[in-house]
Amino acid sequence: MASEINTVGVIGLGTMGAGIVEVFARGGCTVIGVETTTPYADRGRAILQGSTDRAVAKGKLDKAGQQQILDRITISTQMADLAPAHLVVEAVPETIDLKRAVFGELDGIVRPDAVLASNTSSLSITQIAATTAHPGRVVGMHFFNPAPVLKLVEVITTLGTDPEVTASVADVAQRLGKKPVVVGDRAGFVANYLLFGYLNSAMRMLEHGHVSREDLDTAMRVGAGLPMGPLTLMDLIGLDVCDHIGEVIYTHSRSPLHAPSAMLQQLVTCGRTGRKSGRGFYTYAKAGGAQVVADDDTPAPGEPRELRAVGVVGTGALADELVARLTEGGYAVTHADDPSDLEPLADVGLVIEAKEEAQEEVAGDTGDVAGQGSDADELFARLGEVTAPGTVLATANSYSAAALAARSGRPEESAVLRMHAPTGNGQVIEIGRTVATSTVTVDTLRAVVTAMGAEPVVCRDRTGLVVDALLVPHLNDAVRMCEQGYASVADVDTAIQYGLGYPMGPFAMIDRIGADEVLAVCEELLTGTDGFQAHLVPSPLLVEHVLLDRPFTG
Ligand code: 3HC
Repeated sequence: MASEINTVGVIGLGTMGAGIVEVFARGGCTVIGVETTTPYADRGRAILQGSTDRAVAKGKLDKAGQQQILDRITISTQMADLAPAHLVVEAVPETIDLKRAVFGELDGIVRPDAVLASNTSSLSITQIAATTAHPGRVVGMHFFNPAPVLKLVEVITTLGTDPEVTASVADVAQRLGKKPVVVGDRAGFVANYLLFGYLNSAMRMLEHGHVSREDLDTAMRVGAGLPMGPLTLMDLIGLDVCDHIGEVIYTHSRSPLHAPSAMLQQLVTCGRTGRKSGRGFYTYAKAGGAQVVADDDTPAPGEPRELRAVGVVGTGALADELVARLTEGGYAVTHADDPSDLEPLADVGLVIEAKEEAQEEVAGDTGDVAGQGSDADELFARLGEVTAPGTVLATANSYSAAALAARSGRPEESAVLRMHAPTGNGQVIEIGRTVATSTVTVDTLRAVVTAMGAEPVVCRDRTGLVVDALLVPHLNDAVRMCEQGYASVADVDTAIQYGLGYPMGPFAMIDRIGADEVLAVCEELLTGTDGFQAHLVPSPLLVEHVLLDRPFTG
C-alpha cells in the first residue's frame, strides 16, 4: 500500500463526484477526475468552477486560492490516466453492475499498492470488492452532499479489507478536515439507514394527506431543529437517488418502514427528480437551483377570523406561557384559572384549554379522553355552553380534537394546539384538526400561532402529530442500531451530526429530551398508530437506559 495518499483519482463527476474532487483538491492532493464523455467532463468542470466561485463571492477563498485548487485538478475521459493514483474513489451512478465493471477495469490500470474506494450510498462493498483481484484494498468512502460542507466520511470495511487500508483511508479523511466513522458493510451504513426510515415515514405522511409539504418541512426544520425539512432534503439528494437507496435498504431490512413509496416512484418516472431537474416535491426557479417558486400545490393564503380577545383555561406552566405569549402577540387575554368559573369567556373569540391537572388525567388513560364523568369532559361540555357560537376551541393538552369536538358540541371549531420547545431554527406550534374542523378555524389558529411568534404546522390530529411522530421513531431507530451492535453511540452521533448536519446526534438529542419522555412518546405511538408497526416498539436498550436512569452520552 502507498505510504501516503497524495494523488487521488475520482471516477464520475456528477454532484457527488465533483464535490469529492473539490474536497481532495482543497486538502492539497493532486486530483485526476475521470468522466465517460467530454460533455460530462465539462459538466464536472462547471460544478467545480461554480462551487469555488461561490466561495470566492462569499469571501471564503481568494482568487489565487481558487486557482491553486483548480490547478491541482486534471479532468480526463481516459481511465488509464488514473495510473499514478494512490487512492481512487468511484462515484458513478448507483448500479452494482456498473460499479463492478469500473472496479474490474481498475485492476489493470492502477498501481498494485493503490487503495480503491467506492462512494456508494448503500450498495454492498463486499460485492464490489469481490470483482477485483485484490479485495483487501477495497473500502467504502462515503461522502455526504454537499461534500465540501458536510464533514462525515463513512469508511466501510468488508470482512476482507486490509486493516492498514482502513487506517490510511480514515487518516486521509482526517487530513481533509473530515470526521471518519469506520463501520462494517450493511445496506445504508449508518447515516443513510437511519435517514431513509425517517424520510420514508415523512413521505408517507404527505402521501396520506396528513400534512402539506410546506408544513411537513416546517415541522422538522423548525420544530425538530433539523437543517432542512425531509422533502427539501430529498429534492437536494435527488428523488431518483432516494428511490434507489430506499430500495436497497428495503431489500435488506424488509421492514414496512422502508417499503417503497408509490408517490416517489411516480415522481421519478415523470422526471421530477428534485432540484437537479427543477422539479421534485417543489418547483425550482431553474434546474440545479435552490430557489423554490410557487406552483399548483402552493397553498393559498388563509382567511382568518379577526380576533381580539382570547381565553386561556387552567393554571400551571403551560397556561402561563400561553397567557404571556398571547399577550405579547397583541391579544386581550382572559385567564380563567378557575375552571368552575368560565363566565368571563363568554365574549372571547378563541379559548385554549391548558389545565395542568388534565395532563395527569390523560397520562393515566389516553384512549378514553372523553370518558364519562372525567374533569376534562365536563370542562369541554361547559366550554360549549358558555362560549358564543363561532368561538374557536382548542386544547393544548394531550386530548384529541375529536374528544373536544364531541363534548363541546362544536366540531367545526375544535382543534388541538401543541406547543413545542424552541429549537435553533425557531418554534413550532402544531394545529391538529379533525375531518370536521373548518378551514376558517384552521386559518384563525394559524394567524394566532404566527402572532405568538411561532410557526404553525397544520395536520390531522393523530398520535404524535408530525414532529413527535417523525422524530421519536427516528431516535428509537438509532438506539436499535446500537442495540444490534452495528455502530457505537459515539459513531451514530458523529454520523448524524456531521453527515446530515443535525444540531446534535440522536443520542445527544435523547439525553436532552429525556430518555423517559422519548420512551413515553414511543409507547403512545405504538398504541395510537393504525396497525402494528414493529419499528415503533421501543428498543430494549432505550427501556434499559430509562430504568437505570442512565444517559447515553457525556
Ligand atoms: N456546495 C458547496 N458549498 C455549499 C453548497 C454546495 N452545494 N451548499 C451550501 N454550501 C455552503 C455555503 O456556501 C455556505 O458556506 P459558508 O458557511 O462557508 O458561507 C454553507 O454551505 C451554508 O450554506 P447556505 O448558507 O447557503 O445554506 P444553509 O445554511 O441552509 O446550508 C446546507 C445548506 C449545507 C445544505 C444545510 O442545509 C445542510 O446541511 N442540510 C442537510 C443536508 C444533508 O442532510 N445532506 C446529506 C444528505 S444524504 C447524503 O448525501 C448521502 C447520499 O448517499 C445520498
